[in-house]
Amino acid sequence: MNYKNTYAASTENPETFWKEQAHNIHWFTQPKTILSSDENGYPLWYKDGELNVCYLALDKHIEEGFGDQVALIYDSPVTQTVKKYTFLEVKTEVAKLAGGMQSLGLKKGDTAVIYMPMIPQAAFAMLACARIGVTHSVVFGGFAPHELAIRIDDCKPRAIITASSGIEIDRLIAYKPLVDEAIQLAEHKPKKVIILNRKLGAKVPFKKYDVDYDALVYGSEEAECVPLNSTHPLYVLYTSGTTGKPKGIVRDSGGYATALKYSMQNVYNAKEGEVFWAASDVGWVVGHSYIVYGPLINRNTTIIFEGKPIKTPDASTFWRMIEEHKVSVMFTAPTAIRAIKKEDPNGEFIKKHDLSSLKIQFLAGERCDVATLEWYQEHIPVPAIDHWWQTETGWPIVANMMGIEYLPIKPGSVGKAVPGYDIKIFSENGTEVGPNEEGYVVIKLPLPPGTLLDLWKDNPRFKAGYLEKFPGYYFSGDGGFKDDDDYIFITGRVDDVINVAGHRLSTAEMEEIVASHSSVAECAVIGINDELKGQIPLALVVIKHGEDIEHFQLEQEIVKLVRQQIGAVASLRNVVIVQRLPKTRSGKILRKLMRSITDGEEYQIPSTIDDEAIVGEIIEVLKKYKIGIYSK
Ligand code: COA
Ligand code: AMP
Repeated sequence: MNYKNTYAASTENPETFWKEQAHNIHWFTQPKTILSSDENGYPLWYKDGELNVCYLALDKHIEEGFGDQVALIYDSPVTQTVKKYTFLEVKTEVAKLAGGMQSLGLKKGDTAVIYMPMIPQAAFAMLACARIGVTHSVVFGGFAPHELAIRIDDCKPRAIITASSGIEIDRLIAYKPLVDEAIQLAEHKPKKVIILNRKLGAKVPFKKYDVDYDALVYGSEEAECVPLNSTHPLYVLYTSGTTGKPKGIVRDSGGYATALKYSMQNVYNAKEGEVFWAASDVGWVVGHSYIVYGPLINRNTTIIFEGKPIKTPDASTFWRMIEEHKVSVMFTAPTAIRAIKKEDPNGEFIKKHDLSSLKIQFLAGERCDVATLEWYQEHIPVPAIDHWWQTETGWPIVANMMGIEYLPIKPGSVGKAVPGYDIKIFSENGTEVGPNEEGYVVIKLPLPPGTLLDLWKDNPRFKAGYLEKFPGYYFSGDGGFKDDDDYIFITGRVDDVINVAGHRLSTAEMEEIVASHSSVAECAVIGINDELKGQIPLALVVIKHGEDIEHFQLEQEIVKLVRQQIGAVASLRNVVIVQRLPKTRSGKILRKLMRSITDGEEYQIPSTIDDEAIVGEIIEVLKKYKIGIYSK
């Protein structure tokens, strides 16, 4: 079957298509009902099937004779460690950790937060939860205690699994004090904190709720895999929305496992036994789907990389990794390639490494600019495939289906719709627009298996955010267009979500924090173009009448506030003082207008603007502070 036929089969008869795909994973109870719906009419996949995702990722391969295959490679340039674990070794540690968690009272239906750096135990913790039906919520290690506390209060974990420290390029980050602070800030109090002491010198203050990870694993019996219903929530993963409160994306078990297996083979063309490397973090959806569950379910060797594309120690790290570990398929964010390109524009490091194992390079997480794609293609002779998806979907929506048919690449496009996704481009009033016309990217319901089930304990927000804008369709939050050949181009978010170095962040959340500064009367935070990180936030603030504060001091204090509340990862560095913000006559802040002005894009001043003169004022301020196109 070529791409066209496969795609047609998936949209003409989704039930038949996904029934077939479900045969590619092992079920304890085969699902009889393929597609049904919940009490709100939202689609459910494989409702009556029973399985265990940890079993699929580990035990199944051991039973089939692959226990000695390397399942996971931990490569940490920051600690100068390389360690390999076979499927049998991973299973033993995971099963014992799961047993230990059971002895602490954790059971099916509970939740656990995992707050860990990029170390194997982060994956072990996720798999241990999956083994016993505990729904995990991994929180990115770069988030500050305040963010961790918000998630603790929302998903109410019985336990937190953490490590003593993470390592950034230039510093050790002690995690335990951050966890303790988050627990203090949160209303909900987890019963236990399971802590892995990495013995790297970080402070590990002891609290009564602490349990030592190593002692727990050592002293526990292996737990068996618990059979779980297909719709059992494997995890909740928080992502930024259009308000200060992150959204808890709920993932099912059976639909997700089926979709991951399908995508590993058909999107990524990863053959069982090959090495698959997603250079991301377990705190993001890429980490869930393509560092942990996808590769392991497909019996690939996966890599946990504790480092950065540059400075650990230099821009050759990715190429060293590919050569040393014989990586077949790789996934990273364009920002990582931009960082490498900046340090090594002529690709001198690339020439020093044997990259013959590499078949395909996948890119996603943010828009891939054509220059980055072309640089990659000039220096590395494998297809560089941009593809588009979101935390919500859990796996690619638009791609080049490398396991089915390699279609010609159109730079700037993310490819064509992945089987299962019926994508339309809608105008504001919900009618489909023609080719090459920009609009809202929507997906016809039912979404395929593996996509979000709900928002954690917040179905009204789920409906309002995704389903009500265009009834019968899922609203992606992205804008884009299709060309005459049905290639899809994503032009960017249509809401207040920004993408900073591949990290999804909410400007609305940053605004809440900036506004909490005692000198700020009102503010707007917008995402502006950045050569390295794709986008970075810019805060425009109006200070309170009569306040006497220097710009330098205000900027420093606001930057510090955002780092304390969200984390350094927010990358807010620029704060400018304006006399007033551009608004419509009804008081709505014109953020898009400010973005276009700063990025030097064409803009039209809306007829509803309160006072046109403000556009000139904003430009003067941007010039003064040398921001955006006025920085040169
Ligand atoms: N824990 C603690 N702090 C973290 C962190 C973590 N897990 N991750 C990032 N940070 C901190 C960084 O140390 C940095 O702090 P600083 O402002 O004090 O220097 C800040 O957050 C910003 O980090 P980052 O955006 O990563 O910038 P950087 O300058 O350190 O590195 C890149 C730039 C491009 C090399 C890096 O962003 C990168 O590797 N990007 C790829 C991202 C990616 O794979 N995303 C996944 C999407 S698929
Ligand atoms: P996340 O949920 O963190 O994976 O972020 C998803 C968002 O990142 C999408 O809604 C897009 O705005 C953006 N995104 C992801 N991949 C791409 C891509 N290949 N091209 C353009 N934007 C992308």
